[in-house]
Amino acid sequence: MTTNMQWVLAARPVGAVKESDFRLIESPLRPLAEGEFRIEVLYLGVAAVMRNYMLNAEKFERPLELGDVMHGRGVGRIVESRHPDWRVGEIVHGKMGWQRYAIADGSPYFLMFKVRQRVAPVSTALGVLGLTGFTSYLGLVDIGAVKAGDQVLVSGAAGGVGSNVGQIARNLGAEAVGIAGSPEKCRLLTMSLGYRAAINYKSEDLEQRIGELFPNGLDVFFDNVGGETLDAGLAHLRRHARVVLCGAISQYIDGLERPYALKNAFALFKKMARMEAFFIYEMSERFERAEAQLADWIAAGKLHYQEDILEGLEQMPTALIRLFEGRNVGKQLVRVSPDAR
Ligand SMILES: NC(=O)c1ccc[n+]([C@@H]2O[C@H](COP(=O)([O-])OP(=O)(O)OC[C@H]3O[C@@H](n4cnc5c(N)ncnc54)[C@H](OP(=O)(O)O)[C@@H]3O)[C@@H](O)[C@H]2O)c1
Repeated sequence: MTTNMQWVLAARPVGAVKESDFRLIESPLRPLAEGEFRIEVLYLGVAAVMRNYMLNAEKFERPLELGDVMHGRGVGRIVESRHPDWRVGEIVHGKMGWQRYAIADGSPYFLMFKVRQRVAPVSTALGVLGLTGFTSYLGLVDIGAVKAGDQVLVSGAAGGVGSNVGQIARNLGAEAVGIAGSPEKCRLLTMSLGYRAAINYKSEDLEQRIGELFPNGLDVFFDNVGGETLDAGLAHLRRHARVVLCGAISQYIDGLERPYALKNAFALFKKMARMEAFFIYEMSERFERAEAQLADWIAAGKLHYQEDILEGLEQMPTALIRLFEGRNVGKQLVRVSPDAR
């Protein structure tokens, strides 16, 4: 353990993210300062927001300059420590960056937590039992105020966040319909991910299908996609509906220059509905509650976690690109350490 492998930013993306926007480098491991600890990264996750990091367009993240290690969350094992509260051998998840070895100091910036649960593999600390799962749970329960009997619509339903939302809705006595981009994903939604029905937005008329599947309107719309998809859902709100703005992946590239103008926003007024965005990094005091509930459901066989794992740190750019191309099924991860299980 003397050298590190790191993905650094080589170019700011223009349009779609490309492999050539990144460069893989080898660098020496520096000694730890007092208060720091070193983590051997086991798995890394990717998120659509990373394209914004590459453009320095997210104010909540440290600036990313050309040549800097890409930001990202991982799960790993502490292999060296000069911090009394973070001990060698502990498994942690937090901000680690796209690299084999990360250094952290336990300060709030790293949003780092110890993995204590034993109900599922450590990779789930980036998925259902990490910020992705907390986003699904807190988005639906705290922001969406879902309750038994509710009719729920979820876009991006076969992705990392969406693959949990239908099951959480079902576990709370509600019924969900998922929107996804292929027949295989739609089958998965109804066969294993708790959705009562699925809509393939690429081959069906989305707005018409929502109308058919929600003849009395919908109570909660958990939206990961934004743009036209959000507009189609707004057209079918029931009185006092809640629209949860979780993400807007359809807008992350073109929407910055040509923002989509919603045609159905007035429906919020007519239906006395509420539309609210949230940011999971600001909800950390609620993570313990979310984790406990999600772990209980996994242990009881009521929550199936869907992971899509690529092998090797070399795959990081591919993993990120897959999100924008809709190629991932469930939470997109990369196994960085070959013996991580
Ligand atoms: N609010 C928060 O704090 C928070 C936290 C985490 C994530 N998020 C957001 O939540 C959303 C889901 O995140 P995730 O990490 O779970 O990603 P994900 O859903 O696993 O991956 C992205 C999926 O989005 C779909 N997609 C891509 N481009 C699209 C387009 N132009 N139109 C429609 N669908 C498109 C693809 O599925 P199809 O094959 O179905 O098209 C793709 O598989 C993202 O928007 C993300 O930014 C928000």
